[in-house]
Amino acid sequence: MKKSFGFLFAAAALALASFDVNAQAPTGDIPPDMNALMSKYTCIACHRPNQRLVGPAYADVAKKKYSDEEIVNLIYNPIPSHWPGYPPMAPMKQVPKEDAMKLATWINSLDKSPAKKAGSSKAKGKGKKAA
Ligand code: HEC
Repeated sequence: MKKSFGFLFAAAALALASFDVNAQAPTGDIPPDMNALMSKYTCIACHRPNQRLVGPAYADVAKKKYSDEEIVNLIYNPIPSHWPGYPPMAPMKQVPKEDAMKLATWINSLDKSPAKKAGSSKAKGKGKKAA
């Protein structure tokens, strides 16, 4: 039951988000090869590099300092409690490991926080805030 709800939700979100693709969220900052993967596996319906959509901006994911491997695992087994205030992401087990790794590496490359936040404490990133 829970599972099928997740799928229904994903389908609904997809349907909604596909309207948004042209209307509001620019895809211009996605490199062509990543754009191809994100379209193929539908990530693009819910994610942008620098903008919250259905899911968090990848730049915000990058700030969590996961390893590439951890991101691959989270694509297969999302942990919704990492993102209070967001709906749960459906597990994307159909993505081959190789492609998941490419996406993960790119997602991690989007973290530009060191330049901006030099000087401020890093303590925030690691601790999981209970909602
Ligand atoms: C139907 C919408 C949807 C689709 C499609 C989707 N995501 Fe997500 N994603 C979310 C939401 C919502 C969250 C935050 C809640 C969660 O993690 O469950 C999220 C979270 C994430 C996270 C952060 C995980 C964490 O625990 O910090 C990563 C990484 C991610 N998505 C990658 C992807 C990739 C890669 C794809 C395509 C293979 C994808 N997502 C497809 C909605 C989606």
